[in-house]
Amino acid sequence: MIPKILIIDDELKLLKLLGMILQQENFDVKEASSARSGLSMLDQFDIDVVLCDVKLPDAFGVALVKEIKAKRPTVEVILMTAYGNIPDGIQAMKNGAYDYLVKGDDNDKIIPLVYNALEKVKENRNRMYEKQDSSISFENIIGKSAAIFQTKKLAEKVARTEATVLLTGETGTGKEVFANAIHNASPRNTGNLVALNCSAFSKDILESELFGHKKGAFTGASSDKKGLVEEANKGTLFLDEIGEMPLDLQAKLLRILESGEFIKIGETKSSKSNFRLIAATNRDLKEEIHKGNFREDLYFRINIFEIHLPPLRDRKEDIKVLANEFISRFANKMQIKKLEVEDNFYQKLQSSEWKGNIRELKNAIERSMIMMESNQLAADNLYIEISENPSSLDMYTVEKQHILKVLTYTKGNKSEAARLLGIGIATLYRKLEEYGLK
Ligand SMILES: Nc1ncnc2c1ncn2[C@@H]1O[C@H](COP(=O)(O)OP(=O)(O)OP(=O)(O)O)[C@@H](O)[C@H]1O
Ligand SMILES: [Mg+2]
Repeated sequence: MIPKILIIDDELKLLKLLGMILQQENFDVKEASSARSGLSMLDQFDIDVVLCDVKLPDAFGVALVKEIKAKRPTVEVILMTAYGNIPDGIQAMKNGAYDYLVKGDDNDKIIPLVYNALEKVKENRNRMYEKQDSSISFENIIGKSAAIFQTKKLAEKVARTEATVLLTGETGTGKEVFANAIHNASPRNTGNLVALNCSAFSKDILESELFGHKKGAFTGASSDKKGLVEEANKGTLFLDEIGEMPLDLQAKLLRILESGEFIKIGETKSSKSNFRLIAATNRDLKEEIHKGNFREDLYFRINIFEIHLPPLRDRKEDIKVLANEFISRFANKMQIKKLEVEDNFYQKLQSSEWKGNIRELKNAIERSMIMMESNQLAADNLYIEISENPSSLDMYTVEKQHILKVLTYTKGNKSEAARLLGIGIATLYRKLEEYGLK
């Protein structure tokens, strides 16, 4: 697919010039000279990246960033600020912009920046639709603790039934992995596993993703669209972060769960779909009910079979087996043949808190392997999460070197580096600027 780039700028000369530069990269370029027409193009086309001027006749670009992100959360926005107006750029990043450019000054940076933003877009999309992996089975779910053993046994049992499953547990405990394993072990494994992250969409988009829409149902609905509930027919629908689903959509979800019927946006008659639901949340749904954010009737409907995934700190026996698995995977990836792991490395792993659970453990191990010298993995290579505000000069240099090493490893790919460092992309950019690494 050819990436679609939208430029919003009322200075026509610049609009055309930028358009030409981007067309030379074979991007599909759309142009708008006001915020209003830019927003309507976002409805019409599947835009990937927006380049947006700060001063528009009908809007302030810094504020427009927020509107664009609300409308299309996977889209990345690059703000073009006037010369010498860095505060606008910083505010734009706080509003969710990917980065900013100083107009006229940064011409050679435009293309690389757009490519980086496109990578981020790809990542955003993966996060929204989740990875569906038909190779994940219960055997791939590693752990030797009694807690994980029990959890797996329960999940394997319920997998064979038609029952709705609610997966609960902190971030990084393996909810997505379990959802895949359950579908793959179920009689519905010949159908699709369709996954959607409810937290990644605005209400309107979520509804049209889930239930689909008719052509002309709203501005931008240029053709009929099949909803995910239909794609999941005869298969499984995995709704991740279900606690984030807006209340009126919860009512529609309840309806389809009870009757199998749903109504497409812009349609009057209802359609049918037969899917099995797996839902996941890292929130306490009872508390959400109490706060008025979650429907109690829906809760009872989805909480037929709850599987709680225990946090890593409650199953420390699993840390070493998980670590060994990740070490051998990364050794493979990095083509390391012989590797020594010191005892103090495991000891340090055992004593960490792992608030991000298995995901954090996995990232920490990959980071350590980037940092190690002469294929020896020791406690010193294990950096647990870098702080947002380095307090001393010493910390400052350690962090700078650390970031540099990670960036070298990722061959300059900043979003990959941010993931490995466990920080957001905006934070990484800020740090690069602070350290004069940009
Ligand atoms: N038992 C396990 N064995 C091996 N890898 C695992 C296991 N559990 C989780 N992982 C890995 O840990 C990472 C996090 O898992 P997953 O995405 O399933 O967590 P999650 O509970 O869905 O997190 P979140 O709430 O943040 O979405 C993934 O890379 C996954 O492959
Ligand atoms: Mg998940």
